[in-house]
Amino acid sequence: MATSMNPEERLNRFSTFGEVLSQESWTTRLLDDFVMSDVYNLGGGQVPRLTKVDELIKWAEIRSLLEETGKVHAYGKIRGWPPYLEAYARRYNEWYRKETGGNLELDPKKHIIVVPSLSAGNLFLVQSFCGLDEKSGVKYKCVGLIPNYVGIERQFPSGPEKTFIAIYQKMKINENNGTFKFEPDQDTLETLENALNIPEVNAYYGPRPNNPDGSIISQEVLEKMVKLAEKKGVKFIQDCAYAGPDPNYVYDDVKCVPVFSDNSIIEHTHSKYGEAGDRLGEWVSKNEKLMKRLERVVANTIFHTQQSSQAYTQRLMEQQVLFTTLMEKDALTEIDKTYREFLKRNIRTILDTFRKECVSYKENKVLVCKPQGAFYVFCHVDLPEGITSQTLYRDLKNKKRTIIVPGDAFVFGKPYNPNPEVLGYDPLTLGAKTFRLSAVERTEERMRQGVLNVCEQIDHYNGIHR
Ligand SMILES: Cc1ncc(COP(=O)(O)O)c(C=O)c1O
Repeated sequence: MATSMNPEERLNRFSTFGEVLSQESWTTRLLDDFVMSDVYNLGGGQVPRLTKVDELIKWAEIRSLLEETGKVHAYGKIRGWPPYLEAYARRYNEWYRKETGGNLELDPKKHIIVVPSLSAGNLFLVQSFCGLDEKSGVKYKCVGLIPNYVGIERQFPSGPEKTFIAIYQKMKINENNGTFKFEPDQDTLETLENALNIPEVNAYYGPRPNNPDGSIISQEVLEKMVKLAEKKGVKFIQDCAYAGPDPNYVYDDVKCVPVFSDNSIIEHTHSKYGEAGDRLGEWVSKNEKLMKRLERVVANTIFHTQQSSQAYTQRLMEQQVLFTTLMEKDALTEIDKTYREFLKRNIRTILDTFRKECVSYKENKVLVCKPQGAFYVFCHVDLPEGITSQTLYRDLKNKKRTIIVPGDAFVFGKPYNPNPEVLGYDPLTLGAKTFRLSAVERTEERMRQGVLNVCEQIDHYNGIHR
């Protein structure tokens, strides 16, 4: 075999994991799109960097760098820089008490591990829980609700078809106000319970708020889901990228607090601010045995996080430069205020432009999922046969230099389907009929023009010409 081996072929050989990760994906495509010059970017991006928040954070970073230099070093404690862990535990406990009235008492030495971004942390988490167990020969799987987070499918080692079990949620439509919502109901919970009974299932992964639709699973349903998984010994990963304590981009009238249980690992990120231009995240869990093993995962992969970024962030946290509140207007810091005003204005522009400029919207052919958290609006669209949200993505990019994210980016995985009646939505059409708009254009005018381009293109498909 060795003699007949083609060197060129051999150079291109990857493991299944490498094969999956080295393919083009929506993530790679969109990351290229976002940096194209002169596009209306409704795809995504780092919000604080678009506002004067950027400058404020930078100065605070430079100050703390000058003051903290010498205290941080390259090979620090595995779980994180102790002053950062202490500041984060304090901040988390205070926020939790304010939100729930209950005590959390996170111990900085036991319950928190700092990771270099949620995405990287998540990769190691799902690698540690899902995939082949050589001892038993069983391939452990992960369950999750669909639609789901755009980056997640590629993180499963044996490819999404094999290790990710998808549960398609039902869509609740309200034609009166042109909105829809994904809402896990009793059927979804039963489907989830059945899926959790599959012996190979070893984890549940769920973003909260419900990325990508921006709505929030109620506290009550989340608790039920966590309990179901706990009863069966399935680890429950709560990706709280947009929830509190930071950035806490959650609307006044909704609750969004993680559920702490023996089977839960909560993931957070500070990358949304981009302190020091860095990606920085946390794993939080009260299960000390699990955390001990995860600490070793971090050590064994030489994966612990730059201490300098923790030093900056700790200072920003202590000086209350980061968000401190849940939309409490009188207590907003300057950054908090700028960031939220920017997002709220842009979300309003998306919704207003649809309302005023889109004939298909007025005819209920476009429905929006009103965000309760996060900085995007997830849309559902009725398009003529043969036209999908991918066509819309391509035409908008090529003809109007406007970037959106098509639904396929969020719809993936092998459906769990022992009883087709409980499945909520045909997965093939769900991706084709949905897309997401992010509220990240710099000015109101650019934001409006971007959405107007989307409206015109959809109306054009529907035979409406201006
Ligand atoms: C649900 C979810 N998790 C994680 C992330 C990424 O976090 P990080 O930048 O820390 O990798 C995102 C980014 O938008 C997200 O939407």
